[in-house]
Amino acid sequence: MELTAEQFSKLSKLIYRKLGLQFDEKKMYFLNKRVERRITELGLKDADEYLFQLGYCDSSGDEMQALANLVTTNETYMFREFEQLAGFADVCLPELIAARQKTTERRIRIWCAGCSSGEEAYTLAIIVREVFPDSRNWDIRITATDIDENMLELARNAVYGDRSVKGVPSVYSKHLVPTVTGFRIHPETASLVRMEKLNLNDQQQMKAMRSYDFIFCRNVLIYFDDESRRNVVNRFYDSLNPKGYLFLGHSESVGRITSAFRLKKAQGHLLYTKD
Ligand SMILES: C[S@@+](CC[C@H](N)C(=O)[O-])C[C@H]1O[C@@H](n2cnc3c(N)ncnc32)[C@H](O)[C@@H]1O
Repeated sequence: MELTAEQFSKLSKLIYRKLGLQFDEKKMYFLNKRVERRITELGLKDADEYLFQLGYCDSSGDEMQALANLVTTNETYMFREFEQLAGFADVCLPELIAARQKTTERRIRIWCAGCSSGEEAYTLAIIVREVFPDSRNWDIRITATDIDENMLELARNAVYGDRSVKGVPSVYSKHLVPTVTGFRIHPETASLVRMEKLNLNDQQQMKAMRSYDFIFCRNVLIYFDDESRRNVVNRFYDSLNPKGYLFLGHSESVGRITSAFRLKKAQGHLLYTKD
């Protein structure tokens, strides 16, 4: 089966409207393969029948969800883009802890948006436990969100193979408990993390995310176009506490699409902060 140019255009518009993800012609082969699989699973005749079903018979959103699970790119591993994480561990987190220690507030909220199978969220949990020995006495939560339900299930399992954990510094290996198939994140470390399904392109869901000190959204917005990227980043701004930080992937920049954030350098890495 091969999508015609018209079918591809209809499909990519439906995906864009719901998820904010942009699929241009270069992604035609990829989308073709994924949709082909879905058409076979559903026992449908052809792509037109599928598009009709997706466009007009999906009031529950179940089919769009099934498609979202298929078309998202989920590449991830622990301690990805290590230098930026060092900025978080050595500068931003200690700065926040020192400021909170001058008050009675003992709460820290971190949002890992587009967490895929959870490696990034557990990386942040390891850093929190390592950098801040008193973390057990504070109310600290890492909320890890993604649109892809299959990835969220893997994230909840918290069991990873060699490929996922190869970047974990050996001094942190106590956070990984060997199992028959790989490594489980130590339950005490994992207890900092909660998974939730969230579509970054859904304004209502985004508005409910409030009072975060740090937002990590790395290697996610590269799949969005400027307009949906701007919407997401503006919502992140609203979700952050004053002096909160937004961490994007190293190939991602929002300077071109919004001036809301102040750019700050930590350990040579650019971070966005809310004044
Ligand atoms: C390449 S992974 C990045 C994982 C991790 N942040 C990292 O840097 O290793 C991108 C993730 O973004 C998620 N994603 C894409 N579009 C999304 C949307 N509209 N809402 C929520 N998550 C989305 C995908 O499901 C995927 O798991």
